[in-house]
Amino acid sequence: MSDDGYFDERVAARYDETSAEMFDPEVVDPVVDLLVELAGSGRALELGIGTGRIALPLAQRGVPVHGIELSNAMAAKLRAKPGGEDIGVTIGDFATATVDGTFSVAYLVFNTILNLTTQAAQVACFQNVAAHLEPGGCFVIEVGVPGLQELAPGETFRVFHVSENRWGFDEYDVVNQGLISHHFEIVDGRAERLSIPFRYAWPSELDLMAQLAGMTLRERWSGWKQEPFTSDSDKHVSVWEKPAS
Ligand SMILES: C[S@@+](CC[C@H](N)C(=O)[O-])C[C@H]1O[C@@H](n2cnc3c(N)ncnc32)[C@H](O)[C@@H]1O
Repeated sequence: MSDDGYFDERVAARYDETSAEMFDPEVVDPVVDLLVELAGSGRALELGIGTGRIALPLAQRGVPVHGIELSNAMAAKLRAKPGGEDIGVTIGDFATATVDGTFSVAYLVFNTILNLTTQAAQVACFQNVAAHLEPGGCFVIEVGVPGLQELAPGETFRVFHVSENRWGFDEYDVVNQGLISHHFEIVDGRAERLSIPFRYAWPSELDLMAQLAGMTLRERWSGWKQEPFTSDSDKHVSVWEKPAS
């Protein structure tokens, strides 16, 4: 693995293309709408800002955005886009990196909390966010519910994508709440592989991490349009709040 983590030059070069469905305005607009509302007249902090999928349209809506990002390659892609130079990026680990000033909202989308592969790092991330929020500020996470119900007894693999040139499956390690997402793709006639480790966590565990950081759950939906979170939901959008005083 390079200093850029799993999102190195090779991955950054094709990130927008391989995640194209996540850049669809139908996906992005509800995210931005909610973040605009939560930001109010304050600033927004994106953890794992990537190539600016959410940060750029949020900034275009008048919200000052700052990002924390491990990967120089991803940040360079953001900077090269129109408006990208106006978004400050701190290169570092969002579990520990600090940024000047405070924010009315911090957000961590597209399962990125799971990139922290230990419980200690995830706890540190909540504490780091709380330290950056102004009183009454919110932390928003979008993340999948662990897909264990879809595993047959004793099974450890779950296919999440099959198409003409791309295949993906998750490999679960239930003892350690670990999961490796394996991606295989045919690029220019050659097979490429990317395997990224994650640590999955239940909503209740994230609530406890928020509690340890002095925040309380304000909302939990199954999507950005504020759909109800139910036993059938495969993901959640959760909002924790730092006390107003
Ligand atoms: C799935 S991408 C999401 C990017 C962007 N938020 C989006 O929604 O398109 C995850 C991003 O988080 C970054 N990342 C992963 N772990 C990180 C960490 N510990 N600290 C900072 N950035 C991290 C990766 O480099 C990558 O750019």
